[in-house]
Amino acid sequence: MSPSVVIIGPPGAGKSTVARVLAQRLGQQVRDTDADVEAAQGRTISEIFVDDGEPAFRELEHAAVVRALEEHDGVLALGGGAVLDPRTQEALRGHTVVFLDVRITDAAARIGLNRDRPLLIGNPRAQWTIMMDARRPVYTEVATVRVATDGLGVEEVADAVQAAL
Ligand code: S3P
Repeated sequence: MSPSVVIIGPPGAGKSTVARVLAQRLGQQVRDTDADVEAAQGRTISEIFVDDGEPAFRELEHAAVVRALEEHDGVLALGGGAVLDPRTQEALRGHTVVFLDVRITDAAARIGLNRDRPLLIGNPRAQWTIMMDARRPVYTEVATVRVATDGLGVEEVADAVQAAL
């Protein structure tokens, strides 16, 4: 088994929502590694960060990605930082990977940048921008397709993804 599409990108790119819409259109199941980790742990991601630290979360996340790549044959959304792990980058080779690119204005509008995201505590806009500057090369390298989502609604993003597949 293998996902039909893997969706990557930063917090606020709309990964989970677009994955849901795409899956519905394709008549497939949707899976989300953030939700997998939380379900397996019985804790929120923030709780895992606070209790165990980010490295422990990243291990759980990597394991969740590997499991999902083996078990899931629908649309798969990854947590925003999952692709930073070189092992995850390697595991994604050969898959169709869509990078939902987004600028700060749109990301901020989508998530308010005040949601419970442990990496964006403090000054969420500044944190997000620093994060995205560092990660954009990785998202670009890992993806087989890049879709610019700025100014688009979820259905339009799903259209753009389908057109690019
Ligand atoms: C993270 C993104 C989050 C979640 C965790 C870390 C990141 O997922 O996995 O808070 O490093 O970008 P979303 O991208 O779904 O918000």
